[in-house]
Amino acid sequence: MKLLPPSFLGRAFFGLLDGDKFLAARDAMLDQIQYRHGVFASDNLITWDKALGFLREDAFAHAVNKNTTTGLERGTVWRLSTLVWAARQAAHLDGDFVECACYRGSSARTVADLVDISGRRYFLYDLFEHDESMPHHAMAAHSATLYDEVRARFPEPNVIITKGRVPDSLAQAAPERIAFMHLDLNNAEAEIGALEVLWDRILPGGVLVLDDFGWASYGKQHLAETAWLGARGHHILEMPTGQGLVIKHA
Ligand SMILES: C[S@@+](CC[C@H](N)C(=O)[O-])C[C@H]1O[C@@H](n2cnc3c(N)ncnc32)[C@H](O)[C@@H]1O
Repeated sequence: MKLLPPSFLGRAFFGLLDGDKFLAARDAMLDQIQYRHGVFASDNLITWDKALGFLREDAFAHAVNKNTTTGLERGTVWRLSTLVWAARQAAHLDGDFVECACYRGSSARTVADLVDISGRRYFLYDLFEHDESMPHHAMAAHSATLYDEVRARFPEPNVIITKGRVPDSLAQAAPERIAFMHLDLNNAEAEIGALEVLWDRILPGGVLVLDDFGWASYGKQHLAETAWLGARGHHILEMPTGQGLVIKHA
């Protein structure tokens, strides 16, 4: 059977010199594809003739449309599908979910809409603010009110949101048993610090997604995490989305 998959043409491309010229060149390139189906062009990834099964799932499409607040966020739909897969894959384990860091909470909200979290806790961490003394880069929604805005997106009492610097803030609240963890701190030292505290708490079969691992501009994380997890007998799958994927073994 031949699938005739949907396509996704987003505008989430980073590091462009001239966005208009780039989009015109992209469209000219796609015009030369004989069977123009299954095209994904977003998030610095252009490919075609892919099944893109996640775009066929109504519940996933609904959750992404509901929870992404900007075109940039929506453009990361393939990354979001990885997170939902990982949480679903880990959902049979008796462990909590973790995200360092959640920013506006959009990907965690998407996971929480699609995976039943009623029997577990979901720990979210972020600084939520930025000032010049902080080593992370500023993002558009950082503000003194962002924590409250994210809190309001999660009425569930089992979603525990901690404001502060990872890994220090893990001392305030952290799970003992982890089924699924997403690291998205854009910072090698902070992510290794989180792994130092939390890796041993991930259950066998638990899934770790490293958002920045496969992005060349986050090469420091790539090298540090390859070495750190390699020393613990684990291999990271570099995905075309730029994510890294690890399934914990005993
Ligand atoms: C790319 S955003 C996270 C996006 C989010 N995971 C999502 O999918 O929507 C990176 C976040 O990391 C946070 N951050 C960076 N360093 C941090 C640290 N050491 N502790 C806590 N949060 C940190 C920033 O405040 C920022 O909100």
